[in-house]
Amino acid sequence: MTTTTHKSSQSVAIAPSILNADWTRLAEQIADAEAAGVDWISLDVMDGNFVPPITFGAQMASAVRSLTYLPIEAHLMVEHPEDHIGDFIAAGVNCVTIHIESTRHPHRLLQQIADGGVEAGVTLNPGTPLSELEAVVPICDRIQIMSVNPGWGGQKFIPESLDRIRQAREMLDACGRESSPVAVDGGVNESTIAAIVNAGATWLVAGSAVYNDRESVADAVARLRRALDALGR
Ligand code: DX5
Repeated sequence: MTTTTHKSSQSVAIAPSILNADWTRLAEQIADAEAAGVDWISLDVMDGNFVPPITFGAQMASAVRSLTYLPIEAHLMVEHPEDHIGDFIAAGVNCVTIHIESTRHPHRLLQQIADGGVEAGVTLNPGTPLSELEAVVPICDRIQIMSVNPGWGGQKFIPESLDRIRQAREMLDACGRESSPVAVDGGVNESTIAAIVNAGATWLVAGSAVYNDRESVADAVARLRRALDALGR
């Protein structure tokens, strides 16, 4: 795994995905994440079409909104995201991230998200060239690199994602969006976090690294923070 470093002093945000949380005690799991000092909560919205599994819709976003003061990101792994963006914004999320592959009109949808007063994120599957994002980078608030094929938690980080993280950082910087983060989603854990951050990511979705049966949420988040501290981040 190459570790070419992207020089940055920006702090790194940790956003646990509730995909791997225990949904029978979701309020407690979110409270544990809050207490552990995470920065965001990430919701993996799946419709059974764009990706095989089905998870939840905007009602879950409303429920999570009522459970935490943290900002919430909705990652829409759905066909026809245009049919759902308004509901997630009304549910109180702070960022909506759409897949470039899921719509013919990514530019219009990102404008719609921004007009709704929330951050507009764009993401892409590991098999989609980053050049597909060129026309929308100037209007997005973040690029999210999928470092696994979306649909499931607990998968192995795809090492080729590191070059894509660097490329995404260069694309944002080239159009003056230095403050827009490169987010990474999939396989973020203690052993991959250094290379991911050194490649230029500053916003990390972590599902199974935070919610698992090996350790408490507090210990899991502390483990990630120690790995970031070791980088001076
Ligand atoms: C799509 C989901 C997952 C999840 C992260 O598959 O977006 O990537 O959030 O899961 P981990 O961190 O367990 O790979």
